[in-house]
Amino acid sequence: MFSTLTKLIALGSVAGVWSHAVMKEPVPRQAGPVHEELCGATVAKVLARDLTGPIENAMDAADGEYNCDAYFCRGYQYEDNIDNVKAVKAGDVLDFKIDMVASHRPGYANVSIVDIATNEIIEPLRTWDEYPGYNIGPDRDDIKFNITMPDTLGATCDAPGKCVLQWYWYVPRSSQTYESCLDLYVEA
Ligand SMILES: *[C@@H]1O[C@H](CO)[C@@H](O)[C@H](O)[C@H]1NC(C)=O
Ligand SMILES: *[C@@H]1O[C@H](CO)[C@@H](O)[C@H](O)[C@H]1NC(C)=O
Repeated sequence: MFSTLTKLIALGSVAGVWSHAVMKEPVPRQAGPVHEELCGATVAKVLARDLTGPIENAMDAADGEYNCDAYFCRGYQYEDNIDNVKAVKAGDVLDFKIDMVASHRPGYANVSIVDIATNEIIEPLRTWDEYPGYNIGPDRDDIKFNITMPDTLGATCDAPGKCVLQWYWYVPRSSQTYESCLDLYVEA
């Protein structure tokens, strides 16, 4: 409680109207050497400085070494996360927790399965037209929710390194994008 409050105060003074959030569960893709190599040390440093910060902060710092797509999973790479790939089956229910440190409305969010090679949406799983939602009670389902794995991913996501589940939140007023990815594959 105290540390969250301290963090909020610190963010407020440094960051003005920024929102802040990151997926906590399941544990999302992390940074690593391949990420730093592709995105450049400067961008990697800004992303690492605040795991809950908007991608745009890193883009403001992009230099000649920037050679990744930070708008796909913050530029975090599968190669740095091969030990954190979730095996799923159709019908599995995954529980999610979002750490929302600060938020501003309006915004909208979605969760979808995305093709790693093409960055195309394979399967939309959940959409929030308003994010965060207005229910802040214990049954709120914006930062605490579950998602049932569809039966349509089989062939496309049949091995690690092909698909991610992407949590995406956009705040238009301040043009801020928040993303977290989970590598997954459908086990036979
Ligand atoms: C999620 O939101 C992003 C940004 O607006 C959009 O590009 C994407 O199509 C959305 N995904 C789905 C499945 O609606
Ligand atoms: C998933 O979330 C819904 C809505 O909050 C809830 O009713 C349901 O019990 C949850 N399912 C599981 C398996 O946790």
